[in-house]
Parts: sequence; C-alpha cells; structure tokens
Amino acid sequence: MVNIRVMSTADYDAVLELMQDTPGISLRDADSREATERYLARNPGMSFVAQDSGRLIACVMCGHDGRRGYLQHLLVLPAYRRQGIAQALVQRCLTELEQLGIHKCHLDVFKTNTDAARYWQGQGWTLRTDIDRYSFTRAGNENA
Ligand SMILES: CC(C)(COP(=O)(O)OP(=O)(O)OC[C@H]1O[C@@H](n2cnc3c(N)ncnc32)[C@H](O)[C@@H]1OP(=O)(O)O)[C@@H](O)C(=O)NCCC(=O)NCCS
Repeated sequence: MVNIRVMSTADYDAVLELMQDTPGISLRDADSREATERYLARNPGMSFVAQDSGRLIACVMCGHDGRRGYLQHLLVLPAYRRQGIAQALVQRCLTELEQLGIHKCHLDVFKTNTDAARYWQGQGWTLRTDIDRYSFTRAGNENA
C-alpha cells in the first residue's frame, strides 16, 4: 500500500539514492545534504515522498520565492509508474502553493528528457517558448 507523506531531512539518503538511480534526474552541489536541509526548512511541508512498506519509491521537491512555485526532482521508481503516484505528488505540491496564494508553478526539464516532456504536456503544463532562462554561476562553482 503506497502512502504519501511530507519529506523530511531524515529522508535525504533514501531520496538521494532514488535520484542517483534515475535517468533524467541531474544532481548538483545544490543537492547536498546541507542545501537540501536548507531548502526543506525554507519551504516547510511542500516536498513529498511516497513509500511502500517503509521503502521510498517516489519523491518530489517543491518550493517558492513568494511569487512563483518551483517543482524539482519528481520521480517514481519504474515498478510503480502509471499508477497515478506522480500525479498525486504534484497535486499535493500545487495544493500547498495554492494555500499560500501562489497560482503559478515552474519547472525545468532537460531537452533530452522527451518522456518527461510528454508527461508534463499531457498533464496540462505549458512548454514556454516565449522566454529563455539565463543563469549566472560564480567562477569555481560549475557544479552548483
Ligand atoms: C515522469 C514520471 C514522474 C511519471 O510518473 P508516474 O507515477 O508514472 O505518472 P502517473 O502515473 O501519475 O501518470 C499520470 C498520467 O500521466 C501520463 N504519463 C505518465 N507517464 C508518462 C510518460 N512517460 N509519457 C507520457 N505520458 C505519461 C499518463 O497519461 C498517465 O495517466 P495514465 O497512466 O492513466 O495514462 C516517471 O515516469 C519518472 O519518474 N520518470 C523518470 C524521472 C523523470 O524524468 N522525472 C521528470 C523530471 S522533470
């Protein structure tokens, strides 16, 4: 029986393992334990995991900047896909954002992740063609 609950810092090792084993998920320095703890503290109750008999089988991270929501690292283990788990996780995040009065949420998808692109578009998310994302990385932090 799969149940969904809020992600806590104690889930870090299991979530990292899930992410390391999943193609399409990119891990950076920003996924360190310290940065993840900071993220969860800044965005309490907005990231979720799903578990089956105590084993983590899916996760999603969500945060906001006060104006817009951001989703990251949605993944479901292959054996548990097509059961609505991702949809339920995303819905929990969007509900949390909505309760804060945040009605728009963004996410990044690698252009090579065509499965994810199909998934998000199928779920009603709009592919933005009107904006380009620019990033600044301080020298020496190329894996930030
Ligand atoms: C994308 C992903 C999270 C979907 O998880 P999931 O739990 O299987 O998704 P759901 O069961 O909630 O799917 C809901 C609906 O989305 C659609 N869908 C799901 N996976 C899809 C895919 N790979 N391609 C197109 N549509 C898809 C289907 O319409 C599905 O409903 P249906 O099963 O009744 O037809 C999962 O395939 C995954 O972990 N992929 C690898 C990690 C990844 O790329 N994450 C996204 C990073 S941006």
